[in-house]
Amino acid sequence: MCGIIGYVGNLSAKEEILNGLKILEYRGYDSAGICCFYKGELKLIKKKGSVDTLSQVCQGQLKDVHCGIGHTRWATHGDPSDKNAHPFLSENNSVAIVHNGIIENFESLKGNLQKQGVRFRSETDSEVIAQLLQKSKCESELKKVQELSNVLVGSYAIAILFKGLENQIFAIRKNSPLIVGKSPNGYYLSSDVNALIDKTTEYHIMDEDEIIWIDNNDCYAFDKNLQAKEIVYKKMDLDKQDISIGNFEHYMLKEIMQVPTAIKLTINECDSMVNPFTKLPKDMIKNLKHLTIVGCGTAFNAGMTAEHYAREREIIAECVYASEYRYRKFLKQDNEVCVFISQSGETADTIEALKIAKEHQIPTIVITNVATSTINKLADYIIPTKAGPEIAVASTKAYNAQITALYNLMDYIYCIKNKINCRTCILKDKLYDVVDKLENYKFDNIEELAQDIVNTERVFFIGRGVDYATSQEASLKLKEISNIHSESLYAGELKHGTLALIDENTIVIVIATQKNLFDKTMNSIYEIKARGAKVALVTQFNIDCEAVDMLIKIPTTDQMLMPEISIYPMQMLAYKTAVLKGLNPDKPRNLAKSVTVE
Ligand code: M6R
Repeated sequence: MCGIIGYVGNLSAKEEILNGLKILEYRGYDSAGICCFYKGELKLIKKKGSVDTLSQVCQGQLKDVHCGIGHTRWATHGDPSDKNAHPFLSENNSVAIVHNGIIENFESLKGNLQKQGVRFRSETDSEVIAQLLQKSKCESELKKVQELSNVLVGSYAIAILFKGLENQIFAIRKNSPLIVGKSPNGYYLSSDVNALIDKTTEYHIMDEDEIIWIDNNDCYAFDKNLQAKEIVYKKMDLDKQDISIGNFEHYMLKEIMQVPTAIKLTINECDSMVNPFTKLPKDMIKNLKHLTIVGCGTAFNAGMTAEHYAREREIIAECVYASEYRYRKFLKQDNEVCVFISQSGETADTIEALKIAKEHQIPTIVITNVATSTINKLADYIIPTKAGPEIAVASTKAYNAQITALYNLMDYIYCIKNKINCRTCILKDKLYDVVDKLENYKFDNIEELAQDIVNTERVFFIGRGVDYATSQEASLKLKEISNIHSESLYAGELKHGTLALIDENTIVIVIATQKNLFDKTMNSIYEIKARGAKVALVTQFNIDCEAVDMLIKIPTTDQMLMPEISIYPMQMLAYKTAVLKGLNPDKPRNLAKSVTVE
């Protein structure tokens, strides 16, 4: 979704900002804009469409500028258009702002300003910020920025330019990330650390309610009472390689190929000297009676997989969509712990769900892939996944890393509860076997199955037990990037209604990796075949059955860890189908990488 870039320094601000916006493209957006100090004025250029379109419009303009702010917008309030694109200037062009997040009380603020005669140029919630700053009676710009936190309700990361304060940027954040990057060539601001990787040597993640003031020479931080704070920079530990597409045609393909590494690095993290589990209070784990797992989309599906694994480890777990958790009647369980899963750590529903758990004094653990994320700042305990930056909108390697971290968490809980020495736990070796199998996997028959799917009307994914969780993730992947309708079902539920949709124009992909459920799942296959559908079976078992039209043979490993393997061909299937349809799998329509609005 929306992205912010700011720059002050000795390089061309136009180039630095446009390059940064280009890196933020993967988050999803529909318009882009830039505003820089130019000949004493705040010069604004913004356009509906791509960053390339904006770059073309900027050609020959904004020469010799050294300070500015830029933005990529994903429309929430007001349609995607030039006028609703950021940055926004205040009515008299004395203030420019870019904003990520939502100003929940913008209507009343706007109404008040309009009563005072202020004319607005857009339909957005964000414009109100520029107008408020212009109207502010505070004696200094810093105080004007501080005043915003008393007035604005909602979430915000805001970068601000004041006419007359040449080459200075102000920033403030709440519930939306903003990061300062330091380099020998100046200072950068970004809502996403990925845009800073190649540019800066050190970075600082702004705290909640922190105010930043950057000028030509330095960067100053203040708390919400305007008390000066020391900035402790972290060394930039990401590499340009991590966000480059390399020799791959798409990021999604690169990321599927990185699945084994993502699992390996996450195992190592869970096993490292700084093992995140040791930070979990022993009593909390010993007494744990109910584990609630919360997430959205793929993160939810990872949670569902873990819910099954937890049951095997005698842990009562319940997986809930964050968007439901937020609004369902709250019933606190005895000795409950909540686990929130989020690749980006910026998903609004998941963040709000976590806040609700905290309000009810439930200990919160987050499993997240982005160390700089908002959710990490809010949670009690953090279990990092080590998938590396995930750029494609469709989540792949992060999913495997999430289930790896969850398996480790469940085993840790099991060991503590049963007084077993965690070091004797053999999960690590089993997971290394998974890595080995995935590294050598050849994706046989996947291209052919993708070809069939392109020409079909309906696709169903079915499975029993934990295979249902995998079928849910496989179905999400396919519909997300190929725009083909697909649905996932518990195999045993077919005959209770959905069987009515099964005919010769249907493909059913059956995931069957659990020995004890295999025969039952085969019964479903016969039912489907009798209605004329094409059946593809994903399994590690050797079978020879006429009802199966295509076998997607997968390597075998410990049965409980099969979800790590069975999803792998399904990720590739979705990718191949999208490519065969001529779609860009990295940028599916209507979707954004991190969903920072409700
Ligand atoms: O960043 P998060 O893990 O919180 O994102 C949650 C979902 O929005 C995300 O998994 C989404 O479903 C993916 N696009 C699926 O591929």
